[in-house]
Amino acid sequence: MNSCSQYTMTSRRSLLFMARLAVLFSLIVNSVRAEPIKYTRTTFKNCIPGFHAEMNVTTFCCPPQKNLNGPIVDFVPRHDPLEPLRIKKALQCLSGKELRTYTRKLQKGYELMRALPDDDPRSFYQQGQIHCAYGTGCFTQDSTNITLDVHYSNFFYPWHRYFLHFHEKILQKLLGDPSFTLHFWNYDNSITTSPPDGSADGCFKAGHFFPPMYNDPTKATYSDNRSIRAYTPNLVTDLGIPVIGRNTTSLPFEEAVARNRAVMHRSLITNAATSVDFLGRNYSVGDSQLENPALGDGSFEPAHASVHWWVGGIMGPVHTSASDPIFYVHHSNVDRLWTLWPKLGPNRQDPTSNLDWMDAEYLFWDENKVLRRVKVRDSLTTEAFGFRYQEVNDASWIQFHD
Ligand code: C2O
Repeated sequence: MNSCSQYTMTSRRSLLFMARLAVLFSLIVNSVRAEPIKYTRTTFKNCIPGFHAEMNVTTFCCPPQKNLNGPIVDFVPRHDPLEPLRIKKALQCLSGKELRTYTRKLQKGYELMRALPDDDPRSFYQQGQIHCAYGTGCFTQDSTNITLDVHYSNFFYPWHRYFLHFHEKILQKLLGDPSFTLHFWNYDNSITTSPPDGSADGCFKAGHFFPPMYNDPTKATYSDNRSIRAYTPNLVTDLGIPVIGRNTTSLPFEEAVARNRAVMHRSLITNAATSVDFLGRNYSVGDSQLENPALGDGSFEPAHASVHWWVGGIMGPVHTSASDPIFYVHHSNVDRLWTLWPKLGPNRQDPTSNLDWMDAEYLFWDENKVLRRVKVRDSLTTEAFGFRYQEVNDASWIQFHD
C-alpha cells in the first residue's frame, strides 16, 4: 500500500467518523430542542426565598403549602357570544352616577379582599406575594434550579393579563357582581380634545394625574406608603424616571408632558418594530437569565417601571408593588398598550409560531381557591376574556415627533 492509498483510507475513515458524529450531534440537538417553560405544582412546592437585586433584599413570598394540594384545573378564557363585551374604561372619564357606583364597589372590593385571612390565596396579601414569587426568583425551573422571572421577558404581557384576570374575578366574587370591571389608569394620555366623529364611547380627556379614588385615606384603595408625588394634586405622572435618579423631583408641567409623549412614542413605535423588541426576550427551558436580567425587557417595560417608581413607596420594587391597589389599574393600562401595539406599524404581531412562548404555562388560584393552569396561547386577545378597552386619545403621543 503506498502512502497515497493509505492517506485515502484514513480520510475515508475519518469522513465516516465525521458523518456519524454529525448524525449523533443532530440527535442530541433535537433531543435538547427548546421546550416551553411551565410553572407546575412542583415549581410551587420547590419555592425558595428570592432576591431583589436593585434593593438588595431577600424576598419571602412563597405561597402557603396548604394551598398546594387539590386539583389543578385547566383554564381557557372563553367569551359567551350572547353576553356583551364588558368595556374597561379610562378612570378619568367616569363621571356622575357611574363614577360614584364604581368608586363605591372598587373600595368595597378591596376592603373585602384585605379582610380575607393572610393564608387565603385570594387575599390581598397573597396577591402581592404571588407577584413577588413570580417576579423575584422564588420559582425555579423544575429540573434545573435556574430562577424564573415573569418580567424582563416575553412573559411580561401574558402573565400580567392572567394575573389581572384572576384578580378581577376575585373582586367580582367578593362583591357578588360578575359584571364588576377593573378600569385603567390612562397616564399616557396628556391631552383633552373633543371626541372624533363617530366615536360613541371614547374618552378624550387627559389621564396623567393620580386617580383620586385611590387617594381617599379612609378607603381600602389607599396606601399610605407612596411618594409625596402621588398625593400632590395636578402633578403629571412621570414616564421617564431613570432607574438611577428615581427620586428626582418632577419636571415642570410642559416639560413633563413633552417627555412623556416622547417616551411613549419611542416605547411603542420607534423601538417596538418587532415582537422581540416590544414583548421582550424569549426564554425556554434551560435558559439562564441574562446576567443583567433587565436587558431582556420589552420596549415599554422601562416606562412602566417609571410609573411604579413615580408612585413610589411599596409600589416601586417588584416584591411589594402588587400590595398597592393602584398596581392593578396601572397594569390594566399596560395590558391595553399590548392590544394597541399591533396597530402601530407594519408586520407587528404576537409571535404565534414561537411554540416555546405559546405553550408556556403558569398557575394561578381562581376566585374559588382552585389552582388553574393557563397557557400563553390562550391569552392573546382581551375579547376571549370578555372585554375590550375604551377608545382614548393615544394620538397625543402617536402623532408626536421628536
Ligand atoms: Cu409585575 Cu409592573 O410589574
